[in-house]
Amino acid sequence: MHILITGGAGYIGSHTVKKLVKTGHQVTVLDNLSKGWRAAVTNARLVEGELANQRLLCELLQAEKINAVMHFAASSLVGESMQCPADYYANNVTGSLILLEAMREVGVPYFVFSSTAAVYGELVEIPIPEDHPTIPTNPYGATKLALEEALPWYYQAYGLRYISLRYFNAAGADPEGELGEDHDPETHLIPLVLKTALGQAAEVKIFGRDYPTPDGTCVRDYIHVTDLAQAHILALEALAGGVVPSIYNLGNGNGYSVLEVVQTAEKVVGKLLPKAFTKRRAGDPAILVASAERIKRELHWKPCYSDLQTIIETAWRWHQKNPLGYAKY
Ligand code: UFG
Repeated sequence: MHILITGGAGYIGSHTVKKLVKTGHQVTVLDNLSKGWRAAVTNARLVEGELANQRLLCELLQAEKINAVMHFAASSLVGESMQCPADYYANNVTGSLILLEAMREVGVPYFVFSSTAAVYGELVEIPIPEDHPTIPTNPYGATKLALEEALPWYYQAYGLRYISLRYFNAAGADPEGELGEDHDPETHLIPLVLKTALGQAAEVKIFGRDYPTPDGTCVRDYIHVTDLAQAHILALEALAGGVVPSIYNLGNGNGYSVLEVVQTAEKVVGKLLPKAFTKRRAGDPAILVASAERIKRELHWKPCYSDLQTIIETAWRWHQKNPLGYAKY
């Protein structure tokens, strides 16, 4: 198939591009490089452009005879979304609807959507199954949920076949060392911890120690980015095989607290790291842990790299080799 990957120069997108190309698919990346990196796209054509440019989208879908779209391009920071909800609605809702409109106009049948655990909000059940209530605690989750809610109607009216993948905490780096996680500014826990180990940050800030969790710090389900990438291949194959549109969680079912992440990182880097407790970050739910039984059962997804130590080891290898991230290229 020929697949358009929006946001393919970003963290999860670039790892998925690599896996798709390896599997024998043709890939075109659309990215405005606001968050992504040219150097992260090494084996596919990169088109620099905006999601909101419907004409560009239609031309691209038509000229490249695209069979499927994987839609990674989005604003995706919980904290930032609390400050700038309008940007999140513009990028994640309006931008995505323009993409769907272009797909409808050209007749592209398959859509894999990057959704998030942030659609759930505070929990009534752990691990979280896909049919858990969705009451987001931040605009990021709300905007992803808004698109998810549109998809069944697009399927019913226009036959758009979709799979929505709700990522928990994507982490780690390409086990072959070619790709990694590089956000500017960096806000994610694991890269920040590793930057502290490299001496690029003074200390690890731990946001909140009064959550209702065993050690008082937030619990998250960290899932290796290469395992996420593999789930996209399975989703694509399932869509092509005629599976009914679905929503799947992508996590590994184990929760780790912020303190546990820091302690595991200390083991991996071989030294203790300076830490400071600060106040809670707005919008953060206390616990997010997935049940990924549905995708394991239905699509035979099997995470291979997702124990915390492997996640941090792969990330550490990339950060050591690329202390300036992609910026040096
Ligand atoms: N944290 C700290 N200190 C830091 C950075 C983060 O204590 O310097 C904490 C956060 O408060 C949170 C945990 O570490 O409890 C993980 O934070 P991240 O910023 O790494 O990730 P988030 O859980 O906020 O969000 C990530 C993705 C979202 C996705 C979510 C789903 O960025 O897109 O996982 O679980 F929705």
